[in-house]
Amino acid sequence: MNGVFITGTDTGCGKTTVGRVLAAAARTQGLVVRVLKPVETGCPEHAGRRGAPDAEALARAAGDDAPLDAICPYRLRLAASPAVAARAEGLRIDAGIITKAFEQAAARADLVLVEGAGGLRVRLNQDLDMAGLAARLELPLLVVARAALGTYNHTQLTLEAAAARGLRTLGVVVSHTAPELSAADRSNLEGLLGDLPVPLLGELEYGARDLSPPVDARALLRAIAQT
Ligand SMILES: Nc1ncnc2c1ncn2[C@@H]1O[C@H](COP(=O)(O)OP(=O)(O)O)[C@@H](O)[C@H]1O
Ligand SMILES: [Mg+2]
Repeated sequence: MNGVFITGTDTGCGKTTVGRVLAAAARTQGLVVRVLKPVETGCPEHAGRRGAPDAEALARAAGDDAPLDAICPYRLRLAASPAVAARAEGLRIDAGIITKAFEQAAARADLVLVEGAGGLRVRLNQDLDMAGLAARLELPLLVVARAALGTYNHTQLTLEAAAARGLRTLGVVVSHTAPELSAADRSNLEGLLGDLPVPLLGELEYGARDLSPPVDARALLRAIAQT
């Protein structure tokens, strides 16, 4: 399957930003890219229409003109975990609906980029978390890590959880979510990069539009295409 599940160590670690860079890179290679943000929470409402900023940003980068309902079937108002935000609206997230949306996207795409919400243990409902969703969609993971103090622990725990759940991890992308690294940020990141049990796929410098070496977005896309 030409798809990847973009997860991360946390919310706000750079999943959408990395997803946009990958989508744009794939597009410049002439690939038809579809995106899926199965659940987005904290969705704003304008003139009776509920938006989904992450899903819409990914779609713009990918040139994906599918209806927002197809790209983001669950757009939830409350800024909370998907399970909690769904419950607040009297809903239960149905994995079948997400699977169908994914299959429809995959049927007319060279590459499908799926962005999870938060990290792997974030719940969609009582029976399903993000790791379970990636397994259900049979997608390998790309783990986005934040270049900041704490990333060693958060990233290693995420990789351990992925392995324990039988998920394949293509590698890690480090996103620089702030313009400067403190000495502590830098030493923590260097510690992580020296100890990674999976490939480092690239770093996205602050404000950058492509991944920096060791692997740029095109090489990463080739790796995805080979899965
Ligand atoms: N490489 C980067 N350069 C500049 N800003 C970044 C970078 N990565 C993330 N950010 C910023 O950090 C915030 C969180 O990133 P985002 O991609 O939305 O994370 P997530 O999707 O994991 O919640 C956003 O404001 C985003 O613009
Ligand atoms: Mg996001």
